[in-house]
Amino acid sequence: MDSDPEDKGTPKAGDRKNAHLSLAAAPLAQSGRAAGFARVQLDHSALPECDLGSIDISTSWLGKKLAAPLFIGSMTGGTDHADAINDALAETAEACGIGLAVGSQRASLESGRSQSRLRSLAPSVPLVGNLGGVQIAADGGVDLARRAVEDIGADALFIHLNPLQEAVQPEGETDWRGVLAAIEAVRDACACPILVKEVGAGINAATARRLFDVGVHAVDVAGLGGTNWTRIEAARRADADLFTPFLDWGVPTVDALMAVRATIPDGRLIASGGVMNGLDAAKALWLGAEMVSMAGAVLRAISDDGIGSPDRERACAHIGQWTEQLRLALFLTGAGSLAGLAKVGGTVDGHPYQAGH
Ligand SMILES: Cc1cc2nc3c(=O)[nH]c(=O)nc-3n(C[C@H](O)[C@H](O)[C@H](O)COP(=O)(O)O)c2cc1C
Repeated sequence: MDSDPEDKGTPKAGDRKNAHLSLAAAPLAQSGRAAGFARVQLDHSALPECDLGSIDISTSWLGKKLAAPLFIGSMTGGTDHADAINDALAETAEACGIGLAVGSQRASLESGRSQSRLRSLAPSVPLVGNLGGVQIAADGGVDLARRAVEDIGADALFIHLNPLQEAVQPEGETDWRGVLAAIEAVRDACACPILVKEVGAGINAATARRLFDVGVHAVDVAGLGGTNWTRIEAARRADADLFTPFLDWGVPTVDALMAVRATIPDGRLIASGGVMNGLDAAKALWLGAEMVSMAGAVLRAISDDGIGSPDRERACAHIGQWTEQLRLALFLTGAGSLAGLAKVGGTVDGHPYQAGH
């Protein structure tokens, strides 16, 4: 996310940030492999013994109360247009009572373009900062992380791991030595929780283990099946053929969730990557996630083509629909509550599956 020329604050760089937004909203950005939610079926209960109208899906996360266990996934910031989208996302998150994770802050921090206004636009919901793993491993990385948290008054900091995207990006960083140690150093230096995510290629069980071992608060699997940065970056290259075999490389979200949950039963898990509606969110929670996030779907809800003026009301309407779908899933399974979801039955690939909650 971080190594475009845009990060150097050049005018050309801003064009690229806007190009990223418009490419991410286009059909070519969608993964050719599914996230796997269609393989997961929750058991229908013809006798739910609960009242749909009183199902409460509010929760708390990072010390703040939320209307639903959802947040808007890390996307953008740092140019006029990206800032306008971010402002609208912050107002939407506040209005809907869900969290907001911002996109990489490196460009804005390095060009002295503060995003501190986001905190006042979204004062009551969790706000999560964002930096790239390969960037915090560079000189000054720990200081950058402290500044990222301070700039927006973040409740937590996401560190994104995107080796595939960086490898396909023409200007990408491909020396990934020292990233795990840098995550540990940032965890020691920052007072807030450190969360780690991929950007759509997934985090497997072995990697999650290493992250939890260095004290990461939660892992967002950010799996394959939704926005696909390999396809987006390849579309910007003349030699795109080189990457054809890797276009759908990665761990689909459902596989990542199941593998991490089976190996690390008590690790805090976040689900993202190809979550398209509230039923997908319910399935992700059933598989053991405590929070769910959506990036591409929110971008398309707030701005059809990624470049038009943001439409907060439309984004709020979509989020309202997703939260209703989540409540409906809790009703139709007879779960009755978020906590009750752990007790309902279901299958993955037609086989009964007991999620390791
Ligand atoms: C326009 C756009 C920009 C993104 N920028 C970032 C970023 O700066 N940092 C990051 O960690 N992830 C970034 N992502 C990745 C998302 O946070 C998420 O991991 C990925 O898109 C998969 O989720 P989705 O299928 O719901 O879109 C971006 C996604 C989109 C759509």
